[in-house]
Amino acid sequence: MIVKVAEHAGFCFGVRRAVDKVYELIETQDKKIFTLGPIIHNESVVEDLEAKGVQVLQGPEEFEKVGDGIVVIRSHGVGKSVYQKLEEQQIAYVDVTCPNVLKIHRIVERESKKGKNIVIIGNARHPEVVGICGWSLTTPAVIETSEEAEAYCPENDNGLCIVSQTTFNYNKFKELVEILEKKRYDNNVLNTICNATEDRQRETKELAREADTMLVIGGKHSSNTQKLYEISKHECGNTYYIQSPVDLDSEMFQSSSCVGITAGASTPNKIIEEVQKHVRIKF
Ligand code: F3S
Repeated sequence: MIVKVAEHAGFCFGVRRAVDKVYELIETQDKKIFTLGPIIHNESVVEDLEAKGVQVLQGPEEFEKVGDGIVVIRSHGVGKSVYQKLEEQQIAYVDVTCPNVLKIHRIVERESKKGKNIVIIGNARHPEVVGICGWSLTTPAVIETSEEAEAYCPENDNGLCIVSQTTFNYNKFKELVEILEKKRYDNNVLNTICNATEDRQRETKELAREADTMLVIGGKHSSNTQKLYEISKHECGNTYYIQSPVDLDSEMFQSSSCVGITAGASTPNKIIEEVQKHVRIKF
């Protein structure tokens, strides 16, 4: 039986890099390690890190807890004022902001310096967007719905610089940009959506076409895993949504010669490997 694991299964590049860095610091540093917010929205990873002594800070207001420890800035990134606070308070930090997010920070800082009105297409409460806003020298606007796009009015006549939250839906982004473009401002539109999600979905579809059995690994409440399951099920009726090797059953593999494995964005590599090993050894 051939077992194939999707190349983009599980963590995206930015999250993997951030999580790996925290584990590396645990191994190499004697100092106490703090992450500014949970490193990832996956309870088992956060609990494992906590068991290894890593503490989660809720925000910069908790920096006094750090002492001579190290703060890790996670892949979502933070605004400029957070770096300033860390430096003022002489706190050591490691920055694992995803390079795709850093690119948006640089754009926003540069364009707002020219006086442009910054428009961020995204969710205003999402930490990544909060961080992006924190690099704008002009007052940024965050737009998530068509009503907000219709109602938008720039602060000055210097034109707009429109960027997007990295995980925003592309079709929705296009729709909102079209509304803003109808208003005939001088727009500079930069599609800063990351294609990690799209890659994972495309790959799942391709693998499901090839496989007789598909295993989709992810948390029960993970909406992106649910989406992968639907895509896979459409191509391969023999698709199973599992959380760990415990959910595997020999019936899943009856008369299968090719098993495909994919996983949602918050599934740790360790679980993907365990499932893969289990399938190879037991079935
Ligand atoms: Fe991940 Fe970075 Fe894209 S964190 S989703 S690779 S922007």
